[in-house]
Amino acid sequence: MKRGYDSSSSSPSSTFGPPQSRFKYNPEGDSQFLEDESTKIFARKVAEHYSARTNQTLEEREASPIIHLKKLNNWIKSVLIQLYARRGDAVLDLACGKGGDLIKWDKAKIGYYVGIDIAEGSIEDCRTRYNGDADHHQRRKKFTFPARLICGDCYEARLDEVLASDAPFDICSCQFALHYSWSTEARARRALANVSALLRPGGIFIGTMPDANVIVKKLRDAEGLEFGNSVYWIRFDEEFSEKRFRSSSPFGIKYKFHLEDAVDCPEWIVPFHVFKPLAEEYDLELVFVKNSHEFVHEYLKKPEYVELMRRLGALGDGNQDQSTLSQDEWEVAYLYLSFVLRKRGQPDRTQGNRRRDNGKMNISTEDILYINSEN
Ligand SMILES: C[S@@+](CC[C@H](N)C(=O)[O-])C[C@H]1O[C@@H](n2cnc3c(N)ncnc32)[C@H](O)[C@@H]1O
Repeated sequence: MKRGYDSSSSSPSSTFGPPQSRFKYNPEGDSQFLEDESTKIFARKVAEHYSARTNQTLEEREASPIIHLKKLNNWIKSVLIQLYARRGDAVLDLACGKGGDLIKWDKAKIGYYVGIDIAEGSIEDCRTRYNGDADHHQRRKKFTFPARLICGDCYEARLDEVLASDAPFDICSCQFALHYSWSTEARARRALANVSALLRPGGIFIGTMPDANVIVKKLRDAEGLEFGNSVYWIRFDEEFSEKRFRSSSPFGIKYKFHLEDAVDCPEWIVPFHVFKPLAEEYDLELVFVKNSHEFVHEYLKKPEYVELMRRLGALGDGNQDQSTLSQDEWEVAYLYLSFVLRKRGQPDRTQGNRRRDNGKMNISTEDILYINSEN
Protein backbone atom coordinates (compact mmCIF):
# COMPACT_ATOMS: atom_id res chain seq x y z
CA MET A 1 0.00 0.00 0.00
CA LYS A 2 1.25 3.45 -0.89
CA ARG A 3 0.88 6.13 1.69
CA GLY A 4 -0.64 9.25 0.23
CA TYR A 5 -0.71 12.92 0.99
CA ASP A 6 -3.08 15.27 -0.72
CA SER A 7 -1.45 18.67 -0.56
CA SER A 8 -4.36 20.43 -2.24
CA SER A 9 -6.73 19.64 0.62
CA SER A 10 -4.60 21.27 3.29
CA SER A 11 -5.22 24.82 4.36
CA PRO A 12 -3.04 27.56 2.91
CA SER A 13 -0.43 28.89 5.27
CA SER A 14 -0.21 32.63 5.66
CA THR A 15 3.58 32.49 6.01
CA PHE A 16 4.06 30.71 2.72
CA GLY A 17 3.72 31.68 -0.91
CA PRO A 18 4.91 34.40 -3.20
CA PRO A 19 5.85 37.57 -1.35
CA GLN A 20 5.35 40.98 -2.96
CA SER A 21 6.37 40.37 -6.52
CA ARG A 22 8.70 42.62 -8.43
CA PHE A 23 7.96 40.43 -11.44
CA LYS A 24 4.72 41.17 -13.12
CA TYR A 25 5.09 38.99 -16.17
CA ASN A 26 1.69 37.43 -16.16
CA PRO A 27 1.04 36.03 -12.73
CA GLU A 28 -2.68 35.65 -13.29
CA GLY A 29 -2.48 34.18 -16.73
CA ASP A 30 0.22 31.92 -15.44
CA SER A 31 -1.82 30.48 -12.61
CA GLN A 32 -4.51 29.72 -15.16
CA PHE A 33 -1.88 28.12 -17.30
CA LEU A 34 -0.92 25.92 -14.37
CA GLU A 35 -4.36 24.36 -14.63
CA ASP A 36 -3.65 23.73 -18.29
CA GLU A 37 -3.38 20.02 -18.98
CA SER A 38 -0.26 20.53 -21.10
CA THR A 39 1.77 21.56 -18.05
CA LYS A 40 0.86 18.33 -16.30
CA ILE A 41 1.40 16.31 -19.45
CA PHE A 42 4.92 17.67 -19.80
CA ALA A 43 5.70 17.01 -16.11
CA ARG A 44 4.44 13.43 -16.62
CA LYS A 45 6.55 13.07 -19.77
CA VAL A 46 9.64 14.04 -17.81
CA ALA A 47 8.68 11.65 -14.97
CA GLU A 48 8.06 8.76 -17.36
CA HIS A 49 11.33 9.37 -19.14
CA TYR A 50 13.34 9.18 -15.92
CA SER A 51 11.24 6.37 -14.46
CA ALA A 52 11.93 4.21 -17.50
CA ARG A 53 15.70 4.55 -17.19
CA THR A 54 16.84 1.31 -15.63
CA ASN A 55 19.82 0.94 -13.34
CA GLN A 56 23.00 0.20 -15.27
CA THR A 57 25.53 -2.45 -14.31
CA LEU A 58 29.07 -1.23 -13.68
CA GLU A 59 30.10 -2.63 -17.09
CA GLU A 60 27.26 -0.86 -18.92
CA ARG A 61 28.11 2.37 -17.13
CA GLU A 62 31.79 2.19 -18.09
CA ALA A 63 30.80 1.53 -21.73
CA SER A 64 28.65 4.69 -21.87
CA PRO A 65 29.65 7.20 -24.58
CA ILE A 66 29.42 9.90 -21.92
CA ILE A 67 31.09 8.07 -19.04
CA HIS A 68 33.70 10.81 -18.55
CA LEU A 69 31.02 13.51 -18.58
CA LYS A 70 29.10 11.58 -15.92
CA LYS A 71 32.27 11.38 -13.84
CA LEU A 72 32.94 15.08 -14.36
CA ASN A 73 29.39 15.95 -13.24
CA ASN A 74 29.85 13.75 -10.18
CA TRP A 75 33.04 15.63 -9.41
CA ILE A 76 31.25 18.99 -9.70
CA LYS A 77 28.46 17.82 -7.37
CA SER A 78 31.01 16.36 -4.92
CA VAL A 79 32.91 19.66 -4.82
CA LEU A 80 29.69 21.60 -4.15
CA ILE A 81 28.77 19.19 -1.35
CA GLN A 82 32.24 19.27 0.19
CA LEU A 83 32.27 23.07 0.05
CA TYR A 84 28.97 23.50 1.91
CA ALA A 85 27.88 20.37 3.82
CA ARG A 86 28.77 20.13 7.50
CA ARG A 87 28.74 17.13 9.84
CA GLY A 88 25.21 16.48 11.13
CA ASP A 89 23.44 18.61 8.50
CA ALA A 90 19.83 17.93 7.54
CA VAL A 91 19.71 17.69 3.73
CA LEU A 92 16.80 18.10 1.33
CA ASP A 93 17.60 16.58 -2.09
CA LEU A 94 15.02 17.94 -4.56
CA ALA A 95 14.70 15.74 -7.67
CA CYS A 96 17.08 13.24 -6.08
CA GLY A 97 16.69 10.74 -8.93
CA LYS A 98 18.11 7.29 -8.18
CA GLY A 99 20.08 8.61 -5.23
CA GLY A 100 23.28 9.13 -7.19
CA ASP A 101 24.49 11.58 -4.55
CA LEU A 102 23.88 9.42 -1.45
CA ILE A 103 27.54 8.39 -1.16
CA LYS A 104 28.64 12.02 -1.52
CA TRP A 105 26.35 13.04 1.36
CA ASP A 106 27.59 10.10 3.42
CA LYS A 107 31.18 11.24 2.94
CA ALA A 108 30.13 14.66 4.24
CA LYS A 109 28.78 12.90 7.39
CA ILE A 110 25.35 14.48 7.23
CA GLY A 111 22.79 13.71 9.94
CA TYR A 112 19.53 13.39 8.00
CA TYR A 113 18.47 13.07 4.35
CA VAL A 114 15.13 13.62 2.63
CA GLY A 115 14.99 12.81 -1.10
CA ILE A 116 12.07 13.73 -3.36
CA ASP A 117 11.52 12.88 -7.00
CA ILE A 118 8.58 12.80 -9.38
CA ALA A 119 9.69 9.54 -11.05
CA GLU A 120 8.40 6.49 -9.19
CA GLY A 121 11.02 4.20 -10.74
CA SER A 122 13.83 6.51 -9.66
CA ILE A 123 12.57 6.78 -6.07
CA GLU A 124 12.36 2.99 -5.90
CA ASP A 125 15.96 2.73 -7.19
CA CYS A 126 16.97 5.34 -4.64
CA ARG A 127 15.35 3.26 -1.91
CA THR A 128 17.23 0.09 -2.85
CA ARG A 129 20.47 2.04 -3.17
CA TYR A 130 19.98 3.59 0.25
CA ASN A 131 19.26 0.18 1.78
CA GLY A 132 22.44 -1.14 0.21
CA ASP A 133 20.57 -3.72 -1.89
CA ALA A 134 21.50 -2.24 -5.27
CA ASP A 135 25.17 -3.06 -5.33
CA HIS A 136 25.58 -6.82 -5.39
CA HIS A 137 29.26 -6.65 -6.36
CA GLN A 138 30.65 -4.31 -3.75
CA ARG A 139 28.64 -4.83 -0.62
CA ARG A 140 29.09 -1.32 0.72
CA LYS A 141 28.57 -0.53 4.35
CA LYS A 142 25.27 1.01 5.36
CA PHE A 143 24.75 4.73 5.17
CA THR A 144 25.25 6.41 8.50
CA PHE A 145 22.31 8.84 8.31
CA PRO A 146 18.56 8.17 8.58
CA ALA A 147 16.59 8.99 5.45
CA ARG A 148 13.11 9.55 4.15
CA LEU A 149 11.92 9.29 0.53
CA ILE A 150 8.99 11.03 -1.12
CA CYS A 151 7.54 10.62 -4.60
CA GLY A 152 5.90 13.72 -6.02
CA ASP A 153 6.14 16.87 -8.08
CA CYS A 154 8.29 19.23 -6.04
CA TYR A 155 7.43 22.16 -8.33
CA GLU A 156 3.74 21.81 -7.64
CA ALA A 157 3.35 20.36 -4.14
CA ARG A 158 3.40 22.46 -0.97
CA LEU A 159 6.51 20.90 0.51
CA ASP A 160 6.39 23.20 3.53
CA GLU A 161 3.25 21.30 4.57
CA VAL A 162 4.46 17.86 3.56
CA LEU A 163 7.76 18.35 5.42
CA ALA A 164 6.52 20.51 8.31
CA SER A 165 7.89 18.10 10.91
CA ASP A 166 11.22 17.60 9.09
CA ALA A 167 12.17 21.25 8.59
CA PRO A 168 14.27 23.26 8.87
CA PHE A 169 16.99 21.92 6.60
CA ASP A 170 20.60 23.12 6.59
CA ILE A 171 21.13 22.39 2.91
CA CYS A 172 18.88 21.99 -0.08
CA SER A 173 20.32 20.48 -3.25
CA CYS A 174 18.73 20.39 -6.70
CA GLN A 175 21.08 18.78 -9.19
CA PHE A 176 20.41 18.87 -12.94
CA ALA A 177 16.69 19.39 -12.35
CA LEU A 178 15.65 22.94 -11.46
CA HIS A 179 15.04 23.78 -15.13
CA TYR A 180 12.05 21.41 -15.11
CA SER A 181 10.31 23.98 -12.93
CA TRP A 182 10.54 26.78 -15.53
CA SER A 183 7.66 25.56 -17.67
CA THR A 184 5.46 28.18 -15.96
CA GLU A 185 6.01 31.09 -13.61
CA ALA A 186 3.82 29.40 -11.00
CA ARG A 187 6.02 26.30 -10.97
CA ALA A 188 9.26 28.28 -10.89
CA ARG A 189 7.89 30.25 -7.94
CA ARG A 190 6.67 27.13 -6.17
CA ALA A 191 10.15 25.61 -6.49
CA LEU A 192 11.79 28.65 -4.89
CA ALA A 193 9.05 29.06 -2.28
CA ASN A 194 9.49 25.41 -1.26
CA VAL A 195 13.25 25.80 -0.90
CA SER A 196 12.94 29.06 1.02
CA ALA A 197 10.26 27.78 3.39
CA LEU A 198 12.25 24.67 4.27
CA LEU A 199 15.76 26.12 4.66
CA ARG A 200 16.84 27.54 7.99
CA PRO A 201 18.06 31.15 8.02
CA GLY A 202 21.63 31.05 6.70
CA GLY A 203 20.91 27.66 5.05
CA ILE A 204 22.42 26.88 1.66
CA PHE A 205 20.81 26.00 -1.68
CA ILE A 206 23.20 24.32 -4.13
CA GLY A 207 22.41 23.23 -7.65
CA THR A 208 23.33 22.70 -11.26
CA MET A 209 21.21 23.46 -14.31
CA PRO A 210 21.56 24.36 -17.99
CA ASP A 211 23.30 27.67 -18.72
CA ALA A 212 20.71 29.65 -20.71
CA ASN A 213 23.33 32.07 -22.07
CA VAL A 214 25.29 29.25 -23.67
CA ILE A 215 22.20 27.53 -25.08
CA VAL A 216 20.75 30.73 -26.57
CA LYS A 217 24.13 31.68 -28.08
CA LYS A 218 24.47 28.23 -29.66
CA LEU A 219 20.93 28.50 -31.01
CA ARG A 220 21.72 31.86 -32.60
CA ASP A 221 24.96 30.53 -34.09
CA ALA A 222 23.15 27.51 -35.54
CA GLU A 223 21.72 27.56 -39.06
CA GLY A 224 18.34 26.21 -38.05
CA LEU A 225 16.65 25.53 -34.76
CA GLU A 226 18.81 22.54 -33.88
CA PHE A 227 22.43 22.13 -32.83
CA GLY A 228 24.58 19.55 -31.11
CA ASN A 229 27.41 17.07 -31.62
CA SER A 230 27.96 13.30 -31.50
CA VAL A 231 26.58 12.96 -27.96
CA TYR A 232 23.78 15.53 -27.72
CA TRP A 233 21.32 17.64 -29.63
CA ILE A 234 18.97 20.47 -28.68
CA ARG A 235 15.98 21.43 -30.81
CA PHE A 236 13.68 24.42 -30.44
CA ASP A 237 10.16 24.59 -31.90
CA GLU A 238 9.20 26.78 -34.86
CA GLU A 239 7.61 29.29 -32.47
CA PHE A 240 11.18 30.37 -31.62
CA SER A 241 12.28 30.68 -35.24
CA GLU A 242 13.22 34.32 -34.70
CA LYS A 243 15.59 33.18 -31.95
CA ARG A 244 14.49 36.12 -29.84
CA PHE A 245 12.97 35.79 -26.41
CA ARG A 246 10.82 38.52 -24.93
CA SER A 247 11.98 39.58 -21.49
CA SER A 248 8.32 39.91 -20.53
CA SER A 249 7.84 36.13 -20.85
CA PRO A 250 10.90 34.33 -19.51
CA PHE A 251 8.99 31.14 -18.56
CA GLY A 252 7.88 28.27 -20.77
CA ILE A 253 10.75 28.55 -23.26
CA LYS A 254 10.82 24.89 -24.14
CA TYR A 255 13.32 22.85 -26.13
CA LYS A 256 13.89 19.16 -26.65
CA PHE A 257 17.13 17.85 -25.17
CA HIS A 258 18.76 14.59 -26.16
CA LEU A 259 21.90 13.39 -24.42
CA GLU A 260 23.17 9.93 -25.39
CA ASP A 261 22.57 7.37 -22.69
CA ALA A 262 21.05 9.93 -20.32
CA VAL A 263 18.31 12.38 -21.29
CA ASP A 264 15.57 12.56 -23.93
CA CYS A 265 12.81 14.91 -22.84
CA PRO A 266 11.47 18.47 -22.87
CA GLU A 267 13.41 21.06 -20.87
CA TRP A 268 13.01 24.78 -20.23
CA ILE A 269 15.36 27.74 -20.45
CA VAL A 270 16.16 29.41 -17.10
CA PRO A 271 17.44 32.94 -17.86
CA PHE A 272 19.80 33.50 -14.94
CA HIS A 273 19.24 37.27 -14.91
CA VAL A 274 15.58 36.48 -14.13
CA PHE A 275 16.30 33.57 -11.80
CA LYS A 276 18.56 35.63 -9.50
CA PRO A 277 16.08 38.42 -8.61
CA LEU A 278 13.22 35.92 -8.45
CA ALA A 279 15.21 33.89 -5.89
CA GLU A 280 15.83 37.12 -3.94
CA GLU A 281 12.07 37.58 -3.64
CA TYR A 282 12.15 34.34 -1.65
CA ASP A 283 15.06 35.51 0.53
CA LEU A 284 17.59 33.44 -1.39
CA GLU A 285 20.71 35.46 -2.14
CA LEU A 286 23.30 34.52 -4.71
CA VAL A 287 26.66 33.37 -3.34
CA PHE A 288 28.06 32.39 -6.73
CA VAL A 289 27.17 31.13 -10.18
CA LYS A 290 29.74 29.53 -12.50
CA ASN A 291 29.56 27.83 -15.84
CA SER A 292 30.94 24.26 -15.54
CA HIS A 293 34.07 25.15 -17.54
CA GLU A 294 34.88 27.98 -15.16
CA PHE A 295 34.01 25.73 -12.20
CA VAL A 296 36.44 23.04 -13.36
CA HIS A 297 39.24 25.52 -14.01
CA GLU A 298 38.79 27.20 -10.64
CA TYR A 299 38.51 24.12 -8.40
CA LEU A 300 41.21 22.18 -10.24
CA LYS A 301 43.63 24.71 -8.75
CA LYS A 302 43.00 23.13 -5.34
CA PRO A 303 45.00 19.95 -4.57
CA GLU A 304 42.17 18.22 -2.67
CA TYR A 305 39.86 18.52 -5.66
CA VAL A 306 42.59 17.44 -8.10
CA GLU A 307 42.92 14.28 -6.04
CA LEU A 308 39.13 13.83 -6.07
CA MET A 309 39.13 14.21 -9.87
CA ARG A 310 41.85 11.58 -10.12
CA ARG A 311 39.83 9.18 -7.96
CA LEU A 312 36.61 9.74 -9.90
CA GLY A 313 38.53 9.29 -13.16
CA ALA A 314 36.87 11.93 -15.35
CA LEU A 315 40.28 12.85 -16.76
CA GLY A 316 41.89 9.43 -16.33
CA ASP A 317 43.68 8.40 -13.14
CA GLY A 318 47.05 10.00 -13.91
CA ASN A 319 48.64 6.53 -14.24
CA GLN A 320 47.58 3.61 -16.45
CA ASP A 321 44.14 5.02 -17.26
CA GLN A 322 44.80 7.57 -19.98
CA SER A 323 41.14 7.77 -21.00
CA THR A 324 39.64 11.20 -20.69
CA LEU A 325 36.72 13.45 -21.54
CA SER A 326 36.17 13.77 -25.31
CA GLN A 327 35.88 17.19 -26.93
CA ASP A 328 32.17 16.53 -27.47
CA GLU A 329 31.62 15.68 -23.80
CA TRP A 330 33.51 18.83 -22.78
CA GLU A 331 31.14 20.82 -25.02
CA VAL A 332 28.17 19.31 -23.17
CA ALA A 333 29.73 20.31 -19.83
CA TYR A 334 29.72 23.89 -21.15
CA LEU A 335 25.91 23.74 -21.39
CA TYR A 336 25.63 23.72 -17.56
CA LEU A 337 26.25 26.01 -14.63
CA SER A 338 26.47 25.58 -10.86
CA PHE A 339 24.90 27.97 -8.38
CA VAL A 340 24.95 28.54 -4.64
CA LEU A 341 22.30 30.62 -2.85
CA ARG A 342 22.03 31.44 0.83
CA LYS A 343 18.78 31.96 2.76
CA ARG A 344 18.76 35.37 4.42
CA GLY A 345 18.97 35.61 8.18
CA GLN A 346 20.97 34.33 11.09
CA PRO A 347 20.88 30.66 12.13
CA ASP A 348 18.76 29.87 15.19
CA ARG A 349 21.06 27.92 17.51
CA THR A 350 18.15 26.79 19.68
CA GLN A 351 16.66 24.55 16.97
CA GLY A 352 16.47 20.90 18.09
CA ASN A 353 16.87 17.76 16.04
CA ARG A 354 13.37 16.32 16.10
CA ARG A 355 13.33 16.24 12.28
CA ARG A 356 15.48 13.09 12.27
CA ASP A 357 12.74 11.11 13.98
CA ASN A 358 10.96 10.86 10.65
CA GLY A 359 13.89 9.08 9.03
CA LYS A 360 14.59 5.36 8.82
CA MET A 361 17.84 3.41 8.55
CA ASN A 362 16.10 0.91 6.29
CA ILE A 363 13.33 2.10 4.00
CA SER A 364 10.54 -0.24 2.94
CA THR A 365 8.27 0.40 -0.06
CA GLU A 366 5.48 1.34 2.39
CA ASP A 367 7.71 4.02 3.92
CA ILE A 368 7.78 5.99 0.65
CA LEU A 369 5.31 8.84 0.84
CA TYR A 370 3.42 9.48 -2.40
CA ILE A 371 2.23 13.05 -2.71
CA ASN A 372 -0.75 13.56 -4.91
CA SER A 373 -1.26 17.23 -5.64
CA GLU A 374 -3.99 16.58 -8.22
CA ASN A 375 -6.81 15.33 -6.02
C1 LIG B 1 19.00 14.59 -14.66
S1 LIG B 1 18.10 13.84 -13.37
C2 LIG B 1 19.08 14.27 -11.94
C3 LIG B 1 18.90 13.36 -10.78
C4 LIG B 1 19.79 13.66 -9.56
N1 LIG B 1 19.51 14.98 -9.02
C5 LIG B 1 21.23 13.53 -9.93
O1 LIG B 1 21.93 14.55 -10.02
O2 LIG B 1 21.70 12.39 -10.09
C6 LIG B 1 16.69 14.89 -13.21
C7 LIG B 1 15.71 14.41 -12.16
O3 LIG B 1 14.70 15.42 -11.97
C8 LIG B 1 13.51 14.74 -11.65
N2 LIG B 1 12.39 15.67 -11.83
C9 LIG B 1 12.01 16.31 -12.95
N3 LIG B 1 10.91 17.07 -12.72
C10 LIG B 1 10.61 16.90 -11.41
C11 LIG B 1 9.57 17.42 -10.57
N4 LIG B 1 8.63 18.23 -11.07
N5 LIG B 1 9.53 17.06 -9.27
C12 LIG B 1 10.47 16.19 -8.78
N6 LIG B 1 11.47 15.66 -9.53
C13 LIG B 1 11.54 16.03 -10.83
C14 LIG B 1 13.51 13.58 -12.63
O4 LIG B 1 12.60 12.57 -12.31
C15 LIG B 1 14.96 13.14 -12.53
O5 LIG B 1 15.15 12.17 -11.52
